[in-house]
Amino acid sequence: MTFQQDHLLGIEPLAPTEITALLDLADSYAELNRAEHKHGDALRGLTQVNMFFENSTRTQASFELAGKRLGADVMNMAMQASSIKKGETLIDTAMTINAMHPDLLVVRHPHSGAVDLLAQKVNCAVLNAGDGRHEHPTQALLDALTIRRAKGRLHRLSIAICGDVAHSRVARSNLILLGKMENRLRLVGPPTLIPGQFAEFGCEVYEDMEEGLRDVDVVMMLRLQKERMDGGFIPSEREYYHRYGLDAEKLSFAKPDAIVMHPGPMNRGVEIDGTLADDINRSVIQDQVEMGVAVRMAAMDLLARNLKTRRAAA
Ligand code: NCD
Repeated sequence: MTFQQDHLLGIEPLAPTEITALLDLADSYAELNRAEHKHGDALRGLTQVNMFFENSTRTQASFELAGKRLGADVMNMAMQASSIKKGETLIDTAMTINAMHPDLLVVRHPHSGAVDLLAQKVNCAVLNAGDGRHEHPTQALLDALTIRRAKGRLHRLSIAICGDVAHSRVARSNLILLGKMENRLRLVGPPTLIPGQFAEFGCEVYEDMEEGLRDVDVVMMLRLQKERMDGGFIPSEREYYHRYGLDAEKLSFAKPDAIVMHPGPMNRGVEIDGTLADDINRSVIQDQVEMGVAVRMAAMDLLARNLKTRRAAA
């Protein structure tokens, strides 16, 4: 089989052929999700546990729906109320869950690397739903599927990722994925929010939106992640919106058919104009949410197939 992974911890270990295989399968799940009967049976009999140590609206809902549509028993652990608060370590929590024989474990954690660590301790497939500033692989995959469906291809596109790159696992995973698929990548934002290490991804860096957006096919906006900032990154939100907030005027520098993306949650009037975000002729933000369910179905389906093969061979 083309998809060789035991876990989905990041985009980093994926080959371009694995990305394409996953997106192809997700395309077929997107069709299923638009049908009246939305059920498949790829995960029938399996148990999926969602452990979110950080707040989430769409990612958690999307993983839950994806598992249910494919027939898994889905359990959401309320991590805010869990024994973590009583001082249990991440590993102890993982071992406890592991003893309940889950097949798929979906984890979001505020610390970069925490999900990788956990994957070494359990004997099921682990999916990273976002770890610190490190990776958010299903977000990058759903963004890729949205771009591929809107543009008809996922290579040789000019893509600008704008705003708070420094704190964004979404930006990191997207840079890795879109780079692997051979696109031209630009980062646009104030220098305080685009640290030097991003040069290693081989992208052009712009401080000015007009220059950075010129003739791009895709404009990907990022949320200003205030909860990860310890002050001093921007002069004021008003000033930030003036220079970096995407509105119709700044978008006019991009190609006439450029699409607008945002992973959500959005700060309207901070990084993006609300009217533009809702403009279905330019914004694909709702498509991103729709593709999120399909991509998570595909990811869990492929990992479950590999898990079953591994267990049968053991
Ligand atoms: C992102 C996240 O949590 O990393 N949201 C999401 O998963 N859709 C981006 C963000 O929080 O800004």
